[in-house]
Amino acid sequence: MPSLDGKVALVTGAGRGIGREHALALARGGAQVVVNDLGGSLAGEGQDATPAQSVVNEIVAAGGEAVANYDDVSDFSAAESMVQRAIDRYGRLDILVNNAGILRDRMLVNMTEDEWDAVIAVHLKGHFGPTHHAAAYWRELAKGGETLHARVINTSSPSGVFGNVGQANYGAAKAAIAGFTLIAAQELQRYGVTVNCIAPNARTRMTEETFGDLPAPEDGFDPLDPGNMSPLVVALAADDAQDITGQCFFVWGGSVNVLRPWDAGELLASDGRWDADELLAQLKERFPDGAAPEGMVAMMAKAGGQSMRVV
Ligand SMILES: NC(=O)c1ccc[n+]([C@@H]2O[C@H](COP(=O)([O-])OP(=O)(O)OC[C@H]3O[C@@H](n4cnc5c(N)ncnc54)[C@H](O)[C@@H]3O)[C@@H](O)[C@H]2O)c1
Repeated sequence: MPSLDGKVALVTGAGRGIGREHALALARGGAQVVVNDLGGSLAGEGQDATPAQSVVNEIVAAGGEAVANYDDVSDFSAAESMVQRAIDRYGRLDILVNNAGILRDRMLVNMTEDEWDAVIAVHLKGHFGPTHHAAAYWRELAKGGETLHARVINTSSPSGVFGNVGQANYGAAKAAIAGFTLIAAQELQRYGVTVNCIAPNARTRMTEETFGDLPAPEDGFDPLDPGNMSPLVVALAADDAQDITGQCFFVWGGSVNVLRPWDAGELLASDGRWDADELLAQLKERFPDGAAPEGMVAMMAKAGGQSMRVV
């Protein structure tokens, strides 16, 4: 395991599921960890200090160093105070893992404005706020002459990068997080900050129904153990990963697929402005069987995930 001794990490939504595993793994690597979690329901209602505090207790019991923070990632000024919490308590911040998330699934024709706004706020604004405040802090350090090995690790989703039915709010936020990663990586490279994202797959309260047909094996390797997501976070947090940035990693069990981002594809070129009739004819010729998304489950299988609904 690469040493993270002396580094300080902030993990959002670290009281449960995947974020909890990231916090435990970073602490095992030697990092001091700010464990953020609002402690609400899966739909993002209510709050509870217990999840964040219990992860802090686990880290401390294992000989590590951690402190809890109960702020809401979608609150821009609270995002600033969680970054400040790391600096006040441990003197610095090196690693930001944006992970907090909620779900309010609904077919888009039935989706309410509130279901849209809440999911976009927690995921998308919940990535922007902590990243903005951490980046402003790192820019000051870089301007002061410090050589940084700082990290932002975002959380996208197969739903965002492949597109899942019933998740217009969530999938749009997660696709935007992949886009945000591409932009932030390019903007922050000059300060010594890398920015990557994960499209995870794990059995948590968020996916109990999705992965209900894939129960944990009684013994042996469980591909859907949320702990399988965290070696990637530790690897990306290491100083040696300084030149890996702007990537989106699909992770399923032992499969880590470095996804291709939006890429140049089928070119239809004309010397001047296209005539719509001609363009349509060319499209029909180029795509004789039509063109439509393959869907999330098929793409997950392609990327290295195994699903009982595919085989
Ligand atoms: N589990 C999967 O297979 C899967 C797949 C794709 C993406 N993801 C993403 O991974 C991340 C972690 O999800 P999980 O499966 O561990 O779910 P989870 O519900 O177990 O954990 C999410 C945590 O985020 C916290 N949280 C929610 N809103 C918050 C807010 N406003 N401020 C601070 N904390 C908040 C919750 O209290 C919870 O503890 C999410 O971003 C999720 O969208 C998960």
